[in-house]
Amino acid sequence: MAIKRVLTYGTFDLLHYGHIRLLQRAAALGDYLIVALSTDEFNALKGKTSFYPYEVRKEMLEAIRYVDLVIPEDSWEQKAEDVREYHVDTVVMGGDWAGSDRFEFLRDECELVYLDRTEGISTTQVKKGLRIEDAK
Ligand code: CTP
Repeated sequence: MAIKRVLTYGTFDLLHYGHIRLLQRAAALGDYLIVALSTDEFNALKGKTSFYPYEVRKEMLEAIRYVDLVIPEDSWEQKAEDVREYHVDTVVMGGDWAGSDRFEFLRDECELVYLDRTEGISTTQVKKGLRIEDAK
């Protein structure tokens, strides 16, 4: 039987357990997990600045057992092409994207699955929760 390839998108900055659980569940939907990781330039376009630069975020994702391949995400329009180029069977996104026009059109190309987010954690929350005082 053919290998089932799964693809997901994100920034994965300040890697946390919400990310790990998303990646674990995404990997469980197939045999090969590809992460399209937002580049620093693409994040700038979205008005976001990550704490860790692209190469560091990529290095950490590549060290995770659920992740087989990391590719750059540098535009909104690349998704259909990614699906074709990497022979993707399933695109997986966190529930925060459920029903979004950014992904729904992919149903013409492949299976689309939204997974529930892990409650109580996000990169934004980690950033807010960190206190300089704690580092002293
Ligand atoms: N994710 C998740 N559960 C969380 C946080 C993130 O399942 N608690 C998922 C998102 O839905 C997305 C992927 O992890 O599919 C990457 O999310 P990303 O936006 O990079 O991380 P966030 O922690 O959501 O970052 P931010 O606070 O900047 O939005």
